[in-house]
Amino acid sequence: MDCITILPGRDKHGQPEPFSAIDLYRGHLYTIVGNTGSGKSRLIKDIEQLAQGDSVTGRTVLLDGAPVSRACRQTMSGQLVAHLGQNMRFVLDTTVEEFSLLHGQCRDRQVDPGEILKLVNTITPEPVALEQSLNQLSGGQSRALMIGDIALICDSPIVLIDEIENAGIDKEKALGLLRHQEKLVLVVTHDPHTALLSKQRIVLGGGAVKAVVDRSPAESELYRTLEEEYRRQRHYQALLRKGALLA
Ligand SMILES: Nc1ncnc2c1ncn2[C@@H]1O[C@H](COP(=O)(O)OP(=O)(O)OP(=O)(O)O)[C@@H](O)[C@H]1O
Ligand SMILES: [Mg+2]
Repeated sequence: MDCITILPGRDKHGQPEPFSAIDLYRGHLYTIVGNTGSGKSRLIKDIEQLAQGDSVTGRTVLLDGAPVSRACRQTMSGQLVAHLGQNMRFVLDTTVEEFSLLHGQCRDRQVDPGEILKLVNTITPEPVALEQSLNQLSGGQSRALMIGDIALICDSPIVLIDEIENAGIDKEKALGLLRHQEKLVLVVTHDPHTALLSKQRIVLGGGAVKAVVDRSPAESELYRTLEEEYRRQRHYQALLRKGALLA
């Protein structure tokens, strides 16, 4: 799988979407922006489910230019797509170590849980331990574990992340890691700094894709300023977490 193509469907009022086709490639990061309720999560779900004109939006998702047959859809979706949802909760009552080993077995992979943990702990400020139960992990820790899992255990080429910022994890490290593995990464965001990490962003409004915007040279310049602010914010966040005075 090298490319997915999104073919237009309809907005929330049943009007056709104003684009002909959107191609998304492996090794690239794309962000999805738009108002609350504009359809960002729905777009992610259409991709996850490899919609074939049968979702509420009527969109079709092609894999390397071809439609996906009904019979293959579920298997293909499971093999190709890893989705980190907006709200997550583990239903499995086991430790981080067992979970990693189990998931490795399911995917036919030799897994070193210590290796995964090392990676997870570079992106979450609160370290995770192997013997910790999944249900005891905080929101940020859970998301960091899932990113480590997607990076080292899943071989899914498509990664969908619904909002990465509010969990306290190092989003730049996390996204850089996934992108370097030649995955196609799509991130829903409300944050300008995250949005400008991608060269292209998909703008949603009223349930439709309104535009695909290329990052302009002026925005690349702005990105550097936002980057400095982001570092400052992270510095203060770290102090805040430690209970220190900020000034
Ligand atoms: N094209 C569409 N046609 C019909 N319903 C739609 C369409 N797009 C989205 N919806 C529905 O609108 C609701 C809001 O969409 P969604 O959850 O995707 O918003 P969002 O942009 O992710 O919002 P938030 O920023 O709050 O997470 C959902 O119930 C979704 O199924
Ligand atoms: Mg959403």
